[in-house]
Amino acid sequence: GAVKVSLRTISTMETEKEIIGSQKQQLAKLFEESLKAAFPDVSDVQPLIAICNDAKHGDYQCNNAMSLWNKLKGKCTQLKGPQPVGKAIIENLPASEMIEKCSIAGPGFVNIVLARQWIAKSLQKMLIDGIETWAPKLPVKRTVVDFSSPNIAKEMHVGHLRSTIIGDTLARMLEFSNVEVLRRNHVGDWGTQFGMLIEFLFDQFPNWEADSTPAIGDLEGFYKASKQRFDSDADFKERAQKAVVSLQGGEEKYRMAWAQICEISRKEFQKVYERLGVHLEEKGESFYNPYIPKALELLNEKGLIEESEGARVIFIEGKKIPLIVVKRDGGFNYASTDLTALWYRLNEEKADWMIYVTDVGQREHFEMFFSAAKRAGWLPSNEKDYPKASHVGFGLVLGEDGKRFRTRSTEVVKLVDLLDEAKSRCKLALEERGVFYILATLGYDTGGIFLFYFLSLLVNITGKAKEWTAEELEQTAEAVGYGAVKYADLKNNRLTNYTFNFDQMLSDKGNTAVYLLYAHARICSIIRKSGRDIEELKKSGAIDLAHPDERMLGLHLLQFAEIVEEACTNLLPNLVCEYLYNISEDFTRFYTNCQVVGSAEETSRLLLCEATAVVMRKCFHLLGITPGVVD
Ligand code: ARG
Repeated sequence: GAVKVSLRTISTMETEKEIIGSQKQQLAKLFEESLKAAFPDVSDVQPLIAICNDAKHGDYQCNNAMSLWNKLKGKCTQLKGPQPVGKAIIENLPASEMIEKCSIAGPGFVNIVLARQWIAKSLQKMLIDGIETWAPKLPVKRTVVDFSSPNIAKEMHVGHLRSTIIGDTLARMLEFSNVEVLRRNHVGDWGTQFGMLIEFLFDQFPNWEADSTPAIGDLEGFYKASKQRFDSDADFKERAQKAVVSLQGGEEKYRMAWAQICEISRKEFQKVYERLGVHLEEKGESFYNPYIPKALELLNEKGLIEESEGARVIFIEGKKIPLIVVKRDGGFNYASTDLTALWYRLNEEKADWMIYVTDVGQREHFEMFFSAAKRAGWLPSNEKDYPKASHVGFGLVLGEDGKRFRTRSTEVVKLVDLLDEAKSRCKLALEERGVFYILATLGYDTGGIFLFYFLSLLVNITGKAKEWTAEELEQTAEAVGYGAVKYADLKNNRLTNYTFNFDQMLSDKGNTAVYLLYAHARICSIIRKSGRDIEELKKSGAIDLAHPDERMLGLHLLQFAEIVEEACTNLLPNLVCEYLYNISEDFTRFYTNCQVVGSAEETSRLLLCEATAVVMRKCFHLLGITPGVVD
């Protein structure tokens, strides 16, 4: 008979590298045990672990004592005040090599100092098992990230660029945290404007059917021209209105014309996504259209839908104006589509977290239909419970003049032009500054030890570039240029407006992508320069964090998981940028004060360099920035 091989055994062997979760999560486990042991009668106490504000007091702190004391007051005669409560928490901590010591401060705060050896060991283990073992554990399985979502036949503008960049990063962070992500492009591909576009297509391109993609060329111009005709020609207007009915009735010819128009836009959008290295799956508004009647019927059964001024609406507590779900003319709108899409994502796609990335201007719309969904019982009324829907709003992109970012005075900035400019500026800078400086900046292996410093010196003297293949130049200019655009956007708290400034984002000083890419490349070159085999060192060497600057860097590297966790939970990519920048600062301090190559601690310190490079690379990856080829 056939020999049966249990596949399961093999796969468990492969996945043996356990995901350990963040320090906070690990400490929480220890303190949970201690809380249970110390206060068995108080049920349901969640350990409150935070990073110490002042590093002098410790690395972390446990903040449960005060609120526990409030619960125990009067009921417990042994303990007098929050301090003894804190003390009891410390006394009941299970033994762990993680903690070096604990002390009490103020009203019972427990300050925790992590063991140096444990930090070192964790870093070593990560170097061997991979940074994936540092992925945070999140309480969700499947999320929808609804982002980018431009509108067909209209230009993709800087708002869509922000949505694309922020959404992609959120998706990357969630994916890294082992959450399944449905990356949804909710394109505006439905609505009454299509009647006008289709009729205009028939008019202007009588041969459209033979031509699989009619040479509309500039679709935005086409849109404007058809709008003008619509507004000025009553006969055309009537035909356009009939075309909407035909399209929505599913008439073949109209469906085909619609599909062609969509396809032209789609190709344009795709160019931007390819440049940015962003992957999306389109499920546009039209996709949900057939489900709308059913979804609205469900809401109607719950008694949510009312008649108001000829429209069908849902009233929301605290809002004067209701949410319109069926227009006066019987048509559906943005809100009916979004309610239906939410229903679909919950019931068909079984997602437990729906994340929507748009400008803050749409906040009201999201609040309204989230509230309607809560009224319907589709979403729990408590914000903290799952399934959950979150609107990730972001501010405006401003020009140098402090006004909405536009070229000349009125035109919206075309995304492609913007990316082109970022790239060409980089290319110019690359050519001017010298090839090797930039190659090394990107972590490209320039072929040998010492080469980096040698050549950057050379470049500084002559200011001249060496020959570079055209392809290398292109790739590098793209990596730096697009990386700079992304980073400049992501480093701000997303809710604030930010000023778009090429000079600033492409500067190699300050908190910019260029500076960070350079910092990373420098670390790689230190390792290269040592001439030691880092893979070998990982296996045979050990990290020791005797110097305070080493310990600080090590501790902060270890905080990677909780930063990503917090960035995911609060949907704030800027936390990862801030962290990345701080790590590079920690590294500089360490490197200034601790000799690496040629020192007695060389092995340990090279491993610390490597751990820093690994963490930085993962941050770049999460931010959608290409650090070079050293991965
Ligand atoms: N198409 C919309 C716009 O350009 C964004 C769509 C956002 N997603 C959503 N489910 N409403 O403003």
